[in-house]
Parts: sequence; structure tokens; C-alpha cells
Amino acid sequence: MSMSDRIQKLLLQAEIGKPMTREDILELLKMPGEYSVDLFETADRVRQNDVGGDIYLRGIIEFSNFCQRNCLYCGLRKANDKLDRYRMTDDEILKTARDIKSAGLSTVVLQSGEDPYYTTTRICTLIHAIKEETGLVITLSLGERPAQDYQAFAEAGANRYLLKHETASPELYHYLRPGCRLDRRISCLKTLKALGFETGTGNMVGLPGQTHEILADDLLLMKMLDADMLGIGPFIAHPDTPLAGIGQDDIELTLRVIAIARLLTRNTNIPATTALATLHPHGRLQALQAGANVVMPDFTPSQYKTRYDIYPGRADVGSATDILKTLEKDVHSIGRKIGYQAGHRPTRRTSKVIH
Ligand code: 5AD
Ligand code: SF4
Repeated sequence: MSMSDRIQKLLLQAEIGKPMTREDILELLKMPGEYSVDLFETADRVRQNDVGGDIYLRGIIEFSNFCQRNCLYCGLRKANDKLDRYRMTDDEILKTARDIKSAGLSTVVLQSGEDPYYTTTRICTLIHAIKEETGLVITLSLGERPAQDYQAFAEAGANRYLLKHETASPELYHYLRPGCRLDRRISCLKTLKALGFETGTGNMVGLPGQTHEILADDLLLMKMLDADMLGIGPFIAHPDTPLAGIGQDDIELTLRVIAIARLLTRNTNIPATTALATLHPHGRLQALQAGANVVMPDFTPSQYKTRYDIYPGRADVGSATDILKTLEKDVHSIGRKIGYQAGHRPTRRTSKVIH
């Protein structure tokens, strides 16, 4: 069979839900550029069929840029002493949650570095207050914590938790995240899932030392964990980290990983990440036409926003209302619309599955 026939057959089978093998995934990751369009269109149809045409919004509050970790890739790493650190007060966080509610969104994401200053009790009090005042669906993204903390968050009313696995290679993981281990990360993810959180994981694409094989394992791990949300973004080198200067600005491979994630996991929520928008002006829209169905506008107050400097040149600086206006326009230009509802992962598949 010619390569073209093989790829068309593979995409046809993936579209109707035939399980994909590691070899299938590798073929799609490695195939020549001319076939990308077919992959993206297939993922776009599966997205339409399994989660619909609406683009769901999650309002993010980056409430602290303190972090006790030293991940080699991240500008928030503890050893970066050039960063101007901040912590938002409970009142500031609550006020921002109200802004998100007023803008018409239904979900808030509370995100920070790993910052023990915010104790479990304090986070739980915040969750209570936000729930009571706004009724927003609450997503946490606070890193690794003991199972009891996760349980306390769930009991306080948190609904979702994001914890990207970052890379499925245990060696690369250990190298990039000194003192951390992939198996501990995976065990956190399983705990979160078992506690009933809608659970998000995901990876970075274009990391130094990453191979297509590792990316295939990232995708299989997302599937294995039955994650409900998948954050897939390009690695962008930060000048004040040990990985300064070794990034690339190609978003093609990231888009492929998003598309394959859609084919593999069907009804998950997949954001068009800010990192994509940062690398390419059309990155976000391209992702939304290659399998993604979520956008996460940043509501962090402007005096803090630029200091949440994970990677350089972050798109999305500007007021949240301006960002929403632009987004409305962009989304209409591709024939879609914003969904202001919570956008939970649908419980049942709508597509036919062939075993
Ligand atoms: N480039 C892209 N994404 C990054 N993240 C951290 N550093 C970078 C970088 N240099 C992402 C990670 C992490 C989140 C805090 O931001 O995936 O989950
Ligand atoms: Fe901290 Fe997360 Fe950045 Fe690592 S990736 S340094 S844990 S904020």
C-alpha cells in the first residue's frame, strides 16, 4: 500500500473510533507535512461529533508566582531570582472570581506555582467563598499535594483539577523536574480521578531530548488515565532558565499532538493553549480547527499578569473584556460560537465505536 493510501486508511479507521496503536500514532506524528491537513480535518469532525461546535471558556486567576520547584523549563522556578514575585490576597482572588462571573463565564481556574504559603485550610476557605458568592465551577491547578489535601479540596467544593504530566518519559521528567518523579505525578492523577475530580493532564511539545516515541507515550498516557481535559502546548524557551535559547517556534507538531489526542480520547475537553497563541498569531484558531474546543482567558489583574512569566512573550496580555471581544470575533470567523456554560466532559460517547 502506498503511504498516502495507508494514511487515508488510518485516518478513516481512527475517525470511526477504531483503537489506535502506538505504531499508528507514530505514523501520524512522523508523516510528511502535506498530510497534516487531512489529520486536522479528521480531528475537527470527531470534535464536532463528540463535543459539539461550542468553544467553552475557563477564566484563569494566576494568584501566586511563588514556586518551590526548580523545573528547568519554567520561568517561575525557585532559582530564577530575576522574577518579581507576588501573592494575591483572598479578597483580590474573590474579586477576580466575581469579574469572571460578571463576564458571563461559568468556570474559574485557580492556578499558582507550588506555593505552600496557601495552606489547605486557606484554599478550602477560598473555595467555599467563591462557590457561595458566584456558584462558579472551580478548577484547581496547584501542583502536587498529599491525597488528604485533594480530598479536602473536593469536600470544600472544588470540581476539577489540572496537573499536566509534562512528559511521559521518566528519564526526561526527572531531568527537567529535579527532585520529582513521573510515577508520583501519575499517582496524584489517579488519586484525583478516584476522588471524582474532572481531571486534566497534558504535556509540552518540542522539549529538548523529546522524541516522537515519547510523544506517542504522552498520548497513550492521556488515554490510559482517562483524563477529562488535555492541555497540550509548545515548549517556549525562557531566557532566565537553564534551557534558555534552545526552543523552537514551530507549532505544527503541537497541532498534530492535539489532533491525535482528539482522535484517541474523543469526548475530552482540549484547550487551544495560550502558548500556541504566543508562538503564532493564528495558533489558537488553528488548534480550534484541529481538535481543540476550549479557550482559557486570563483574568489575573494586570499588575500581576505580566509577572506570571512562565515563558516569554505570553499572548493574552490586555484586559479580559478585550480578549473576550477579540475571541468572539475570531470564533465567529471560523463558523463557531462561544459556549458560556460549564462545558463538562459529556458522559456518553455519541459516536459509534468499533472494537
Ligand atoms: N514553555 C511552555 N510551557 C511551559 N510551562 C512551563 N514552562 C513552560 C515553557 N517554558 C507550562 C507547563 C506547566 C505550566 C505551569 O506551564 O506545562 O504545566
Ligand atoms: Fe513550579 Fe510548575 Fe513552573 Fe515547575 S512548572 S517551576 S512546578 S510553576
